[in-house]
Amino acid sequence: MKATDFGSDFLWGVAISAAQNEGGALLGGRGASIWDQFSKRIGKIKGNGQPTLCCDFYHRYKDDLMLVKGLGFQVFRFSISWSRILPDGTGRVNKEGIAFYNNVIDECLELGLTPMVTLYHWDLPYELEKQGGWASTVFQKWFHRFATVCATNFGDRVKHWIVLNEPMGFTSLGYLIGKHAPGKTSVTHFMSAVHNATLANAEGGRILRGLVRGAHIGTSFSCSEVMPFSQKQEDVQAAQRADVLLNKLFIEPALGRGYPELNNFPLLEKMHIHNKAWKYKERMHFNFDFIGIQNYFALTVKYNALIPYVHANEVKASSRKVPHTDLGWEINADSFYRMIKRFWLYGSVKNIMITESGACFRDKLVAGSINDELRINYFQQYLRAALKAKKEGVNISGFLAWTLTDNFEWNEGFQAPFGLVHVDFATQLRTIKASGYWFRNFLRY
Ligand code: BGC
Repeated sequence: MKATDFGSDFLWGVAISAAQNEGGALLGGRGASIWDQFSKRIGKIKGNGQPTLCCDFYHRYKDDLMLVKGLGFQVFRFSISWSRILPDGTGRVNKEGIAFYNNVIDECLELGLTPMVTLYHWDLPYELEKQGGWASTVFQKWFHRFATVCATNFGDRVKHWIVLNEPMGFTSLGYLIGKHAPGKTSVTHFMSAVHNATLANAEGGRILRGLVRGAHIGTSFSCSEVMPFSQKQEDVQAAQRADVLLNKLFIEPALGRGYPELNNFPLLEKMHIHNKAWKYKERMHFNFDFIGIQNYFALTVKYNALIPYVHANEVKASSRKVPHTDLGWEINADSFYRMIKRFWLYGSVKNIMITESGACFRDKLVAGSINDELRINYFQQYLRAALKAKKEGVNISGFLAWTLTDNFEWNEGFQAPFGLVHVDFATQLRTIKASGYWFRNFLRY
């Protein structure tokens, strides 16, 4: 397999996010985000990690962009910290925040890198969370303002946009399961957050379309193939429920199909009221230029009456003795291939971009270098799977590795490295891992 097998117009890049990389939490007039607040709560983040400094991308962006360039990537995906540009979430614009992103964008262009901006990558301003956050009835107004400020300030130079990063991730982990900020565990909040995210996704697309000339607009969805643990009817149905939530809940309304249907699943039935109102079905739909796919694991589930709503629970990869990463996530490139094909089969997806792909392995720094063969192997398998789908006719336009540097991995803190570049968080020293060099060689030929 060679990089050129993917075609000469294929986009190769790396992705990071504001909350995980930037730091500078208290600098430049930035307001607090839900992660600043959540990470102060005892026991929420492994090792009590706080995203105050992270990889200090705030000060080191020039060096980090040199790394992106040096490793041979052409696209740099990053997100905008909402509370850096609108410290109160809405209202007053923070000029210093705008200037920071202008600098990052200009530096990208100077180096010949294509900036790709994610509007929302999980870091809601804390001020907005205090007023209900993603579950608020006035959420759309806030999002409209944020998207408009981003489009008008950066749209002259940024032409590649991703509206939301994995809406299923932040709505379920943040509002239902409570493992992520803001740490809520309420099904009512979750349902409101889901609907707000669905509307914001489409509305964000419309705002960018209206304000940014020549914009290439996408959004990103997580996906995970769900297998039943056995062929017993109760396990098969448990897998169907998990599947509809993980793989259909957000993409189907975005494609204009409304919320998905599944018999005997009361949780979903509550959403169907929105399908009936034509104005909602319209508002949930946007004609995206590309759909971003992010697949980190395949899942096997079994029926469990004690798990609320979904009545399903995961049978861990380790107990099934299948390959997995150091976060216990099943490695299964065939399943990644099947998910790409499945999204493509909707027919109305114009093009698919792998907007994140990567793996957590707890690397060892030995004599100043990191030989992360497992990560190299992971990328090789997943790239082969993407290439297979592409050769079979799926229009795949790019692959963005997750992630440039080790960073703040949400509730896992600083103990779950995904980077192509190792970061010593005490000194901020960067060390390119073998996987980073592997990409450099791969992209060269
Ligand atoms: C998120 C990243 C995260 C990665 C690994 C993705 O779902 O977009 O922010 O670091 O998963 O957990």
